[in-house]
Amino acid sequence: MPELSQDDSKQLAAAKALELVTPGMRLGLGTGTTAAHFVALLGARVAKGLDVICVPTSERTRTLAALYSIPLTTIDASPELDLTVDGADEFDPKLRLIKGGGGALLREKIVAMASKRMIVIADSSKLAAVLGKFPLPLEVNVFGFEATRRMVSAAAKGLGCDGELRLRKTPGGQAFVSDNGHYIVDCFFGTIADPDRLADRLAAIPGVVEHGLFIGIAKAVISAGPAGIKILGQLD
Ligand code: 5RP
Repeated sequence: MPELSQDDSKQLAAAKALELVTPGMRLGLGTGTTAAHFVALLGARVAKGLDVICVPTSERTRTLAALYSIPLTTIDASPELDLTVDGADEFDPKLRLIKGGGGALLREKIVAMASKRMIVIADSSKLAAVLGKFPLPLEVNVFGFEATRRMVSAAAKGLGCDGELRLRKTPGGQAFVSDNGHYIVDCFFGTIADPDRLADRLAAIPGVVEHGLFIGIAKAVISAGPAGIKILGQLD
């Protein structure tokens, strides 16, 4: 069997998730390269007559899904969804995630939590025994950004999370601005020993609009890699 590339693995996980989609479903569409595979595969099914209605988690995904003529709506018009399929930057054995590498974490969390099921698709390299190697993204209000950064630093240090808190920039060197008009701060903690407590502390800081720790949200992770497909959690 030819070796599976990372991108092949992402596509394989996306194809497995597509098996969960049934006619009439209201779907949340994630953001990122893995979610883009799901959108492409879903688009092919829609072209053959599958009837679904979808809420994208970013303007990028909205544009992509529209290219495939996938029927789209908004979270306000469809505030209850059946299934959201999204990628992740890291996941641990307890189905805790780091998300936000694409800067879409706020919409991703709103859409995931409005869904009966959130299923994560990922290549197997995203599995982490301990979260934190991937810098944790925070969506931060522009007003008071520096004060917020200091509060985050103090709160995180109290839990042993130390490291640079870097304002995300565009390739052109400008501050990256999310679809919601906020900054993204990437927290280079290295190891997050207690993600649950860190999530609580971050959520209590007023300038933190949302953090990229998804805890108790994903029902399952479909991961694919050289060893094939693995399911962590419950798909149904
Ligand atoms: C975007 C995300 C993505 O799901 C995450 O960054 C994974 O991306 P990819 O599938 O490209 O590896 O959280 O905000």
